[in-house]
Amino acid sequence: DYCLKGVRHLSDAGITRLPGRYVLPASDRPGASVCISSPGSARVKLPVVDLARLRVPTERAAVLSTIYTACRDYGFFQVVNHGVDSEAIAGMLDVAARFFELPFPERARHMSPDVRAPVRYGTSFNQANDAVLCWRDFLKLSCVPTVEDVVPSWPDSPADLREVAAAYAEASRRVFVEVVEAALEALGIGDGEDGVMEELATAGSQMMTVNCYPACPQPELTLGMPPHSDYGFFTLVLQDDVEGLQVMHDGEWFTVDPVPGSFVVNVGDHFEIYSNGRYKSVLHRVRVNSTRPRISVASFHSVGTERVVGPAAELVDEERGGEARRYMDTDFATFLAYLASAEGKHKNFLQ
Ligand code: SIN
Ligand code: FE2
Repeated sequence: DYCLKGVRHLSDAGITRLPGRYVLPASDRPGASVCISSPGSARVKLPVVDLARLRVPTERAAVLSTIYTACRDYGFFQVVNHGVDSEAIAGMLDVAARFFELPFPERARHMSPDVRAPVRYGTSFNQANDAVLCWRDFLKLSCVPTVEDVVPSWPDSPADLREVAAAYAEASRRVFVEVVEAALEALGIGDGEDGVMEELATAGSQMMTVNCYPACPQPELTLGMPPHSDYGFFTLVLQDDVEGLQVMHDGEWFTVDPVPGSFVVNVGDHFEIYSNGRYKSVLHRVRVNSTRPRISVASFHSVGTERVVGPAAELVDEERGGEARRYMDTDFATFLAYLASAEGKHKNFLQ
């Protein structure tokens, strides 16, 4: 099937019409939604979280409050002054672009049906479930149990990919730990009794996805990623300077302005559950365009796959003035079963 060679391949072949496999039903097309996004589209300036200020004791409370309201009202925020050096960021975007420029057979070496493979190259979103294919190719790099353990199984071409991606994965993880710690503190949980923070900081799961969205001949008929929410605690997204990420806010789609050098951070399902619904795992999607290829790198962070996730005891302990529990406990096997089901099409196939 030529489409399973991916969209980079189609784009390189110079197609001028979108193959039928990518054409969404009229009701699912990006232009068909409530508020969109021709030039002059609605843009959202997400709340900005300044990690340099978070580190200043007298300013920490104000930043915690920004994190809290961002997670509650948008499910998204931008992180600046995070301390990851700009070369590591530029290097990651650059090696990602060079990976997708490799000849197809070289990329195809990393195709795998095994969703737990440490490396997986592929196309579309959740192929087991996509009735219509998405205009996206991806490279998934598992980072468990640690980056150091898996890096020897990552692609050895481009020659610097392992080194650059490993450094980036470690940096992303450090930012995640700092941000999730603050977000837990903002919930009033702090250290927690259940060891979640400890697990997130030392033994959680991390998966990195490098996304390539080539220029698309008919972008109004398709999407780079369909509306979905993420599964874990937080996802950190690095986007290049081409817009494409959209978030659902107040019932409308908004384009997230790329802020150079920042990370877009979003709440995933696990954090919504753990926060008993105070934080929201919000639908988002990716639009493509006809002129500028786009690269993004998403790093998904959560607890280990063995842990059952439910609302934090501190938040739902009614004896201690907590609120009613709003979510059932969930485990990784339930998530995998859900992914394979019809509803699972709204889930990011991250593991
Ligand atoms: C992207 O902005 O391309 C990534 C979006 C996502 O991972 O949901
Ligand atoms: Fe996502």
